[in-house]
Amino acid sequence: MFRPVPEATLTTKEVSARLLGWYDHNARVLPWRTGPEDRKRGITTDPYAVWMSEIMLQQTTIPHATRYFIEFQRRWPTVEALAAANRDDIMEAWAGLGYYSRARNLYKCAQEVAALGGFPDSASELIKLPGIGPYTAGAIASIAFDEPVAAVDGNVERVTTRLLAIETPLKEAKPRIKDLVTDWVPEQRAGDFAQAMMDLGATICTPKSPQCLLCPFLDVCEGHKSGEPTRFPVKGKKKPKPFRTGEAYICVRDGKLLAERRPDTGLLAGTLGLPTSDWVVVEKIDPAPEMGACVGRVKHVFTHFELHLSVIECEDVQVNRPIWIPIENLNESGFPSVFRKALILYQSFRKPD
Ligand code: ADE
Repeated sequence: MFRPVPEATLTTKEVSARLLGWYDHNARVLPWRTGPEDRKRGITTDPYAVWMSEIMLQQTTIPHATRYFIEFQRRWPTVEALAAANRDDIMEAWAGLGYYSRARNLYKCAQEVAALGGFPDSASELIKLPGIGPYTAGAIASIAFDEPVAAVDGNVERVTTRLLAIETPLKEAKPRIKDLVTDWVPEQRAGDFAQAMMDLGATICTPKSPQCLLCPFLDVCEGHKSGEPTRFPVKGKKKPKPFRTGEAYICVRDGKLLAERRPDTGLLAGTLGLPTSDWVVVEKIDPAPEMGACVGRVKHVFTHFELHLSVIECEDVQVNRPIWIPIENLNESGFPSVFRKALILYQSFRKPD
């Protein structure tokens, strides 16, 4: 089929041909990768290596993941070896890669794959395995088995939205991007195409300073023509955060500040805190200055709300798990930012001029 790419001057076939032509000369050399020349000679890529690299690269950079990948492959050279390994050994070897649910799923997935007798060769089967979502299923199926399916990650979204100057905010544009990339995937060399998109996004079409002059799509890229390629992908409007207000209490006795160990669940769970009132949702922040024992107000933005905290000096306050901290140790005591702001305000208020 020969379909024109909407809003661009290249046909779908031309998009993949150009990208593959670029990849032939610019593919990064990576330890889990079979280079384009070897693939053309029929050398296949081990799905075990592809799967492991993709799991490790979720939320981790290539330089950091590479060391772990090499060590895992040395210790557990096959999926059967990994499935038969001691789970604690795997968790220990994962230390430093973060997001430990990935390591738990890695082990679970290895056991399922070993029981199946090997990796399924299609994205629709791969996605049923633990820890494998749509992107990873597409990446493994295309890279290891050359199934012509899309693998759309953040890099690919950036390349696509720039190439076509897609003005729809990314969140809403995702289904369309997936359809576009699916159309571009060639029947032959689907695995090289997937990796070429990743490499283009990672090395040329970078988030902040794209190297447009080196890009194989320079002459047709609508984002480049707009003069502002970094405007894409377009971010959605952020929803304004609700406000909350509350009080934080500063109670100092005999050179010690009263703090508390916060509850083990909820916001800032288990951290050190100043005693506070409840934080109540308000429509808007009252800009009137605080009076009396209030030394001022600090603002802190949490993920889900913006807190305005009045800092109050007081003689006594009830707390559940009190901790008295010598004033001279306050700087090293490990308060989270919101309370550090309150303490800095208090200290500047108390400092004699
Ligand atoms: N990022 C995630 N997977 C990758 C791969 N296979 N090659 C290059 N970059 C990647």
